[in-house]
Amino acid sequence: MPDELTPSPDSPRPAATPPPNPAEGPGKGEIEPILTVPPVPGAPKPNPILTVDNLARSFGGLRAVDVDHLEVERGVVTALIGPNGAGKTTLFNLLSGFDRADSGRWSFDGRAVTAPAPDQLARQGMIRTFQLTKSLAKLTVIDNVLLGAPGQAGERLWTAPFRWRWRDQERENTGRAEELLERFNLAHMRDELAGTLSGGQRKLLEVARALMANPVLIMLDEPMAGVNPALGQSLMRHITLLAHEGMSVVFIEHAMDVVTGLSDWVVVLSQGRIIAEGPPWKVIHDDDVIDAYLGRRRAGDAL
Ligand SMILES: Nc1ncnc2c1ncn2[C@@H]1O[C@H](COP(=O)(O)OP(=O)(O)OP(=O)(O)O)[C@@H](O)[C@H]1O
Ligand SMILES: [Mg+2]
Repeated sequence: MPDELTPSPDSPRPAATPPPNPAEGPGKGEIEPILTVPPVPGAPKPNPILTVDNLARSFGGLRAVDVDHLEVERGVVTALIGPNGAGKTTLFNLLSGFDRADSGRWSFDGRAVTAPAPDQLARQGMIRTFQLTKSLAKLTVIDNVLLGAPGQAGERLWTAPFRWRWRDQERENTGRAEELLERFNLAHMRDELAGTLSGGQRKLLEVARALMANPVLIMLDEPMAGVNPALGQSLMRHITLLAHEGMSVVFIEHAMDVVTGLSDWVVVLSQGRIIAEGPPWKVIHDDDVIDAYLGRRRAGDAL
């Protein structure tokens, strides 16, 4: 993975820039509320969707996650960055109920998460994707996307007699799934088995399936890894638009031009701990962040 810290001049959108028409954004006025937050680890946010306290997970003697306090702001795009092995995926696993914390507590969308189970959190609107994709190889591409649709009326016993209702819903879901396939350049693969897709295409498929659920919070683990850059940018622009419509987004990414181009806020993990938070242009110049990425650069300089 490239761990470079150089922003590219042709980033797709200036970070934290409110949409041209403020009415398009979630309560965005002259200045986004996130910009008023002090850029320090654990900073309280004006309207958090996720609040985490004292969350820890060790593997043997290794403290993979050790987060004192973290708040993720609602309706903005937050990038979670950090060197390889920093604990980013483990943090996602804990928050989304795919792994169990040794200790800690957190709340999602105003509710304490007491017994985190992935399906229950998904029903509440927290959807995550995986660094290593999880598409079902023996199902078609369209069926993989349709699996992401929330509570199908046809699955509920009491609606079964009203076939016309779930037929309508099925039609609606299929239309939406096709739209997402179109957007992610997968429409021509609609009826192929997902197993025939390339690694990059499978990543796009997984994001499409996640979006089918209309998440309140979408957590993407390296959504662009292996995806061709143009398509990757288009995918993230789509996600940014959804954030402007009110969805909250957290994505893990290594390429700093993507981070600075797409995120409103950046959280930096190193050895399981949050070592910096802030707007992208501030964070990438932070000495602790540079040290974390480059190892003992400054200590080495002094030798
Ligand atoms: N199931 C596990 N068993 C043992 N160690 C684990 C397990 N999962 C993660 N780790 C270790 O925990 C640390 C954090 O791993 P994690 O996958 O969360 O890092 P990451 O920040 O996502 O890294 P990358 O950028 O390479 O994906 C690493 O040292 C990793 O080897
Ligand atoms: Mg990871």
